[in-house]
Amino acid sequence: MAAEMYWKYPKEKIVGFYRAFRPTLVVRDPEIVKRILTTDFIHFYSRGINVHKKIIEPMLRNLFFADGDVWRLLRQRMTPAFTSGKLKADSLNDENSAFRQLGAKVFTPTAKKLVIGMLKLIFPELFKYAKTQGEVEADIVPLVKEILKQRNYQPSGRNDIIDLLLECKAKGTIVGESIQHFKPDETPEIVKLELDDFLAKHGNKMSYDAIKEMTYLECAFKEGMRMFPSLGFLIRQCVSKYTIPEIEVTIDPGVQILIPIQALQNDPQYFANPEQFRPERFLPEEFDSHNKYVYLPFGLGPRACIGEQLGLMQSLAGLAAVLCCCSVEPGPTTIRNPKIDPRSGIVQSIKGGLPLLFRKREIKN
Ligand code: HEM
Repeated sequence: MAAEMYWKYPKEKIVGFYRAFRPTLVVRDPEIVKRILTTDFIHFYSRGINVHKKIIEPMLRNLFFADGDVWRLLRQRMTPAFTSGKLKADSLNDENSAFRQLGAKVFTPTAKKLVIGMLKLIFPELFKYAKTQGEVEADIVPLVKEILKQRNYQPSGRNDIIDLLLECKAKGTIVGESIQHFKPDETPEIVKLELDDFLAKHGNKMSYDAIKEMTYLECAFKEGMRMFPSLGFLIRQCVSKYTIPEIEVTIDPGVQILIPIQALQNDPQYFANPEQFRPERFLPEEFDSHNKYVYLPFGLGPRACIGEQLGLMQSLAGLAAVLCCCSVEPGPTTIRNPKIDPRSGIVQSIKGGLPLLFRKREIKN
């Protein structure tokens, strides 16, 4: 919907519409994007995705979905868990397939999730107890309880996410100033060559420091995230009356704001030949810093992705592990311009998946 509105009104800075009785604003202009995400964030610190304010299903009581003071305090408490020091300690080779499978389940779009989500949006009171992530909840609650018991409710020294959360809990009740009361095509050859060098130098061992050296791989990942970001749009909700100075339009509290990053990142006025996969765009000497408020795969400002560094490192480690031993090519059924699954929630999935052809390759040393 956000992308559709973006392309439909190319001359406008903002576009308003109703989504299940909710007034919604798509912001097309990078300067206004900057105001909402950073400069005037104090008017837009909520996402407002959980429609019912009191009855919230357990899987949606987390930092991404939290609003107001709960968000602020959680964010404050969790930020230290994502520093680069913690990331270096995190084992990139750690296996935990149960969690990985559950992770995939959370983001897999299904008709059931879509219908429940719609019903909750249209009739919040009537469907307040319906759960969009009921199946994941049934799997994850016993799993986490079991792990907590095994660790005797104390951090185990493994430095994984459960340890990090146990450390947060040990710090006790969170207190702080209230925010609510403030005023105001094929694997490019160059990637393979870089990987071969990397292998020779680091003896096939992945580490935080080694991955940081792979500049071209990082550019290739960033270019992928430009063409198909995980979140098609960012969400904020206006919490106090705000007038956009450039156009003198006043936004009332409750209006939901969508920042259409899938569209912005594929607009030729910001990225020449956007349909071309060209990682060089992200080399420091080529990247246009004016695009800072247009290229937003991890969001921006105080509510940007808390796991950006971890997500980047994990993705690069995963890509490096695959590309070290395989070359990846489009297969006979690969679609050149994949379509977004219309059942997708916040995270966009590709309709029918993306079949790829993996060929084992010789490593040049
Ligand atoms: C490639 C991997 C990832 C991508 C592309 C990604 C992308 C995003 C985006 C676009 C947002 C919304 C930002 C905004 O609204 O401005 C977000 C928020 C968030 N992400 Fe990530 N993310 C990734 C990995 C991770 C990881 C590894 C974690 C945690 C382990 C994480 C935890 C979160 C949380 C908790 C939020 C909500 C933050 C808040 O509202 O304060 N993400 N992510």
